[in-house]
Amino acid sequence: MSEDRVQAASSGPLKSLDEWDDFVKDRYAEAAPESGAKPFVTVNPNKKKEEFRNYEAEARACVKEFYRLNHTYQTRDFVLRKKKEYLSRQRMKMGIWEAMQYLNTLVDDSDPDTDLSQIEHLLQTSEAARADGHPRWFVLTALIHDLGKILCLWGEPQWAVVGDTFPVGCAWSDRIVFHEFFAANPDAKIPQYQTRTGVYEEHCGLDKVDMSWGHDEYIYHVAKDYLPEEAHYMLRYHSFYPAHREGEYQHLMSDHDQEMFYWVREFNQYDLYSKSSERPNVEALRPYYEDLISEYFPAKIDW
Ligand SMILES: [Fe+2]
Ligand SMILES: [Fe+2]
Repeated sequence: MSEDRVQAASSGPLKSLDEWDDFVKDRYAEAAPESGAKPFVTVNPNKKKEEFRNYEAEARACVKEFYRLNHTYQTRDFVLRKKKEYLSRQRMKMGIWEAMQYLNTLVDDSDPDTDLSQIEHLLQTSEAARADGHPRWFVLTALIHDLGKILCLWGEPQWAVVGDTFPVGCAWSDRIVFHEFFAANPDAKIPQYQTRTGVYEEHCGLDKVDMSWGHDEYIYHVAKDYLPEEAHYMLRYHSFYPAHREGEYQHLMSDHDQEMFYWVREFNQYDLYSKSSERPNVEALRPYYEDLISEYFPAKIDW
């Protein structure tokens, strides 16, 4: 498909969407495993303060600019508008493999000799999960986790597609990277949005919380009817680093969210570590994945 489709470039300061992924990986994946996606590295409690790298100071100018835009424009109002615009999913009907190929038509300035294509990142993530013996729904969830990035093909700027996600309508955690850029966000002037719980109630559960808009929320809605609940969490909160890696926003989470975040963390190690230089053989893997996709999804779904 898609030869007749006009190719679209992602718009924003990043050379490619992967520049954000690489920044997050650098920040959170302290020690890469030898192969595959093994150890889940948390912050070493014995590490002295001066040993922590200052990732923000080291960030490239384009990454910093990307976060500035993201933090400035992700208002509660923006999120609610985007949900209205996209979640009725009347844009197109497309199968999962087709959507992977569609995402691959995204043009950016990444280097095709060294950088993985979007399809390759998806397959590398799912293959790492498969190699570790995870159940089929988990492998499939890994395969589709970044398909929401097709929002870029519909003209959404990078800051509205990728980035660490966070709740809107309540105070921003100061553990969110480049927190200072929130000063320019219009929500900073709305007192109701600046309390710890904001428009929400203590432990109301994340399902009631509006997250900053991006590829996570979108793919969750596209895929939720076909996958188990654990997969919902993996898709919806995989970029919610302030919660799953920094431990913030516990006061909005229910006990059930806490249990389900096991799966978000379990998945995150594959998302972070599977970016190895070994390129998956897309055509060789395709029959296995087409079979897996058809086990859970109909031939076409609504996007
Ligand atoms: Fe992602
Ligand atoms: Fe990813």
